Amino acid sequence: MKSYIFILGRDPELSRKELFAYLKTQKLNYSVQDSSDIALILQLPSINANNLIKDLAGIQKIGIEIDSFDNLYEGTKNKVRFAISNYTNDKSMVDELKNYFKKEGIKATIKKSHHEDQEYLTPSEASSVVEVIQYKNKLFKSLAIFNPKEYKIRDLQRPVQRPLHTISIRLAKFLINLSEVKKNETLLDPFCGIGTILQESLLMNINVIGLDKEKFCIEASKKNIAWLKSRYNIQNSYNLIQSDSRNSDKKISSVDVVVTEPYMGPFMKSFPTEIEIKKILSELVPLYRELLISLQKITKKNIVVITPLFRAKSKRHFKLNIAPFINSHFQADSPILYTTPTSKMHREIWIIRRK
Ligand SMILES: C[S@@+](CC[C@H](N)C(=O)[O-])C[C@H]1O[C@@H](n2cnc3c(N)ncnc32)[C@H](O)[C@@H]1O
Repeated sequence: MKSYIFILGRDPELSRKELFAYLKTQKLNYSVQDSSDIALILQLPSINANNLIKDLAGIQKIGIEIDSFDNLYEGTKNKVRFAISNYTNDKSMVDELKNYFKKEGIKATIKKSHHEDQEYLTPSEASSVVEVIQYKNKLFKSLAIFNPKEYKIRDLQRPVQRPLHTISIRLAKFLINLSEVKKNETLLDPFCGIGTILQESLLMNINVIGLDKEKFCIEASKKNIAWLKSRYNIQNSYNLIQSDSRNSDKKISSVDVVVTEPYMGPFMKSFPTEIEIKKILSELVPLYRELLISLQKITKKNIVVITPLFRAKSKRHFKLNIAPFINSHFQADSPILYTTPTSKMHREIWIIRRK
């Protein structure tokens, strides 16, 4: 077992839950040594940090604990850029690190964050440097850094885009990992839209089924998946069906997991009034009820579903409580709050597990 640090992104609670769900799915036994909103330190058997960081939405950096700087740099260059990312205001080890490079005969220049008063590098700043993470007087060597460029390519280069109605790649990955779906199992998204959850699942070697009531969306998902297949080595199967999601059980006999962001009412440019919210909820409540009745008939394991949390002009919050629609074969965790700085609406993530 080795000691690894996982630097968490924003949404630390969600990032921790995602990581634990992922490690469980991968059957990687771990023990928690330290946990905060900045980082998790875990004892783990050897991991492939580069694969892990590609699969996880909530982790910015992965590092392995080191006792000293000996053998820190394994490359062959005689000129490197290095950085110390100090997350807990420890006494900086920069001089010791400089001495190490000097002793090794390597010309090393330090890279500092462009963000004023920030003692650590952001993932994009840290991508091509030899980085040491200082955290609570421990030292870690960075093994893998989150690469936002890959997300941008998958989001903005696919042939069909619908920015206002499409789930982010980040949120899609959180949901997929929280479902604890395993390689080669089948995932259903009954509101697939242009196929974001489907595409991210296919990249994780999961078979997918997408449903949408709009022909346009089924065609869009087809095009986007074809594009994905032209860029990545996708081995798993996909099936796209134009249908109302409330009829999922009539179209599909069984799936391992469901992961979805359903229809959540009309797009809002400003905060709605309480009367407007009550009207939207009166449409959404029967949709979610019938949806869950149908999905619980065909799902073998977990259902991960988003519900809206509306913020009214009056600042009051209105939730969509789906607990009454969960039957005796399933049980739900407490929903997890998901907010983004730009969205007029918050979201709750429900994990509904077969008992
Ligand atoms: C919030 S969007 C989902 C976005 C999707 N995750 C994506 O990334 O594109 C909701 C989608 O649900 C579809 N939809 C709305 N009501 C539906 C229903 N009753 N059954 C099936 N699809 C429905 C809409 O056509 C829309 O594409």
